[in-house]
Amino acid sequence: MNDFKLKTELFFGSRALERLEQMPYRDIFIITDGFLESSGMVAKMAQHLPAGARYQTYSNVKPDPSQELVDEGVAAVEAARPDMVIAFGGGSCIDAAKAVLYTCCGRGMAKPYFLAIPTTAGTGSEVTNFAVITRGENKVVLIDDLLAPDGALLEADFTRSVPARITADTGMDVLTHAIEAYVSQDATAFTDAMAVKAVRTVLSDLPAVYRDGMSMRSRARMIEASCIAGVAFTNAGLGINHSLAHALGGRFHVAHGRLNAVLLPYVMAFHMAEQKYRGPYERLAGELGMAGADELLRAVLDLRQTLDIEHSLSGIERIDALEFERAISDMAEAAMHDRCTLPNVRPVSKQDLVNLYRDAFRGLSF
Ligand SMILES: NC(=O)c1ccc[n+]([C@@H]2O[C@H](COP(=O)([O-])OP(=O)(O)OC[C@H]3O[C@@H](n4cnc5c(N)ncnc54)[C@H](O)[C@@H]3O)[C@@H](O)[C@H]2O)c1
Ligand SMILES: [Zn+2]
Repeated sequence: MNDFKLKTELFFGSRALERLEQMPYRDIFIITDGFLESSGMVAKMAQHLPAGARYQTYSNVKPDPSQELVDEGVAAVEAARPDMVIAFGGGSCIDAAKAVLYTCCGRGMAKPYFLAIPTTAGTGSEVTNFAVITRGENKVVLIDDLLAPDGALLEADFTRSVPARITADTGMDVLTHAIEAYVSQDATAFTDAMAVKAVRTVLSDLPAVYRDGMSMRSRARMIEASCIAGVAFTNAGLGINHSLAHALGGRFHVAHGRLNAVLLPYVMAFHMAEQKYRGPYERLAGELGMAGADELLRAVLDLRQTLDIEHSLSGIERIDALEFERAISDMAEAAMHDRCTLPNVRPVSKQDLVNLYRDAFRGLSF
């Protein structure tokens, strides 16, 4: 039996913020990061809180949120006992809020309404039952329907200030979610439809937003594509591209989307090398009006180049060659056990993952 779930209600389009103004909550707790607070974006969003509402802010979220930070957030939310929690920020803020609420409610706190407002067009975390928390050197993927926000509000204007580099990284995360969801063993006709829409949007609109951050039509399409890809992958799952990226990110602290982007062609080529696993890529290419899977791979490579993304992991400054070689076996082991590996289109061994890391480090020509 297959199922398709979307627990989260979506507010989007030109008057989405009016929905926030009309919400029946008065004790609001905002989970965000220091940049969004100090840049005035939190205050700008707070202008749209319901009349008479009080709000407090926890703004200590850092990229790839740690367990320690989650524990700090739990103490703050338990002390505040809000009737609504708003996660305002990129995937790191939304994931931190998910883990905070999950813990608070597990400890008996009455569940507040949970609204996610993304400020990057990338993770789709506003609609997923996933949260990624860093424990020591490991990024741990939590998957539980209780993590999914009650509401997601998409307002492209909140992504206007995202710098080009982060626009590229987060946009490539959308592409990776959509491709992994499409080729996943758990994909269905419903998730395929959403994945195709997201891939098409990224290929057409991401270069435009990268070139010109003020192209708001493309930004609006990208924030929708990010959410659509999130709906696809929360139902279909992801694959080893994410598992490999999680293990690398926990150790080398490189942006999640950038790691996905560098790894993607290597993972696609590994899957496509066997006829049996090439099928979904051929079908996806066909749905996009391309001649075949090779053209899709070429489109991914071209897009990466347009976005000035490194071709190999060795091109990323933070990844030291010696440290990489020392860590490779542990990273492959962690990736094998990552929950994203389960629905991967092709069964993998630890050695396959080691080989993929080596290929992506050296850089192959395609
Ligand atoms: N839960 C999920 O389903 C899911 C899926 C994919 C990734 N993730 C996780 O999400 C995290 C990555 O999230 P992300 O890629 O959105 O980045 P992020 O949340 O880590 O933010 C990256 C940087 O962008 C800045 N930023 C955010 N919004 C901005 C804006 N509007 N203007 C200017 N700067 C802005 C932040 O301050 C931060 O410095 C990782 O931890 C990753 O593992 C979660
Ligand atoms: Zn991702």
